[in-house]
Amino acid sequence: MNNTIRDQFPILKTKINGNSIVYLDNAATTQKPQFVLDAINDYYTKYNANIHRSSHVLAKEATERWKNAHQIVADFLNADSYKEIVFTRNTTEGLNLLVNTYGKANLSKGDIVVISEMEHHSNIVPWMILQKEIGFEIRYIPVNEDFDLDLNWLEEEIKKEGERIKIVSVVHISNVLGTLNPVKKIVELAHRVGAFAIVDAAQSVQHIKVDVKDIDCDALVFSSHKIYGPTGNGVLYCKENILEKLPPYMGGGEMILSVSKDGFEMNDLPWRFEAGTPDIESGIVLGETIKWFTKTVDEMGGFEKLIEHERSLMKELLDSFDGIDWFKPFGKIDYNDRYGVLTFNIEGFSFKGCKEKRQENQEGDGIVEHISKKGICVREGFHCAEPLHDAFNVGPTMRASFGIYNNIEDVKTFAKSLKEAVLSTY
Ligand SMILES: Cc1ncc(COP(=O)(O)O)c(C=O)c1O
Repeated sequence: MNNTIRDQFPILKTKINGNSIVYLDNAATTQKPQFVLDAINDYYTKYNANIHRSSHVLAKEATERWKNAHQIVADFLNADSYKEIVFTRNTTEGLNLLVNTYGKANLSKGDIVVISEMEHHSNIVPWMILQKEIGFEIRYIPVNEDFDLDLNWLEEEIKKEGERIKIVSVVHISNVLGTLNPVKKIVELAHRVGAFAIVDAAQSVQHIKVDVKDIDCDALVFSSHKIYGPTGNGVLYCKENILEKLPPYMGGGEMILSVSKDGFEMNDLPWRFEAGTPDIESGIVLGETIKWFTKTVDEMGGFEKLIEHERSLMKELLDSFDGIDWFKPFGKIDYNDRYGVLTFNIEGFSFKGCKEKRQENQEGDGIVEHISKKGICVREGFHCAEPLHDAFNVGPTMRASFGIYNNIEDVKTFAKSLKEAVLSTY
């Protein structure tokens, strides 16, 4: 890893109790390069104005940049047009939008929505909420003992249930197991029965090349903050011929062309799904961030090199704990098959789940808090994937996850601190 990338992230130069920060919580959110901070500042100091409304110079510039950011994201995903890109608040809102538009309009009692056991809660709970209203079934693609989705199960289900399956929605890379799912194959199976196919790319766009045409998914979602951009913005890609038929998600300004006492006429795509004043600076800066990310990955030698780099970190991490019997990895143990995240348990130690953390108001003296005093930032819990932990009868886990700026030193420092903490039972 070359230091010119790392040097662009000011937070990595700060210290915790005199220790350099080792940031390995990238699956939760990534740190931001200096230019992102500057770009946010530029927006407020140079062209802050509401978009789509006024015709003064500032408003024109903000509106032009907002539209351009959609085009940059469309190019990044290989979508046909900016019209297929809706800016949301995050992955969660993208999924909720799909559930409450496509789902509400197309699901009836007796239909089936297929998700998987390795979904993030944001691809489970919105379906459960709508299920209460409509009464369709939710079925889960099982995760097999190799920590892959059981595609035989899906194939059988598709054969057995046919067009009762209306929607198939799966995660691209699991935020717990690091498994890369064969989404192209899953989409092909879904399309055999005319089902709508959704991909949750929250953990993939920052690690591998994602091409919506190649995958042929009907919709795909991700969050800006997980790909080095600001919080407050997310992306929903949806094929134009589907998006144009969806009912509105939220009503209000920006999503209409005209309103009278008798009704309203919807705006063009994608603006009709962006009601109200959005997080303007965040969306514009996401566009800039994607340009920066693409350039940075190109300079590294392409996504293959990024994957190679992250694999070398995963290898170092797994090798550091090789033969240590208290270290219990959850998921695949071949570093070639794990993308971005390593979750594990430590025999004799327990981690906190959401409930415990909420009850303790996030205070505590667990091992994660302990090593964080030495600058190590990792996460513990169910990582918003409780059904997956349940399926394997595994309690809350610790997770280390990589970003583009992490290096072998980060991994070594983390492994050393963790071993010291465990061995001294701190
Ligand atoms: C796989 C996956 N899906 C969805 C989400 C939700 O992302 P957000 O909180 O940005 O909406 C996450 C966040 O960790 C995730 O890892």
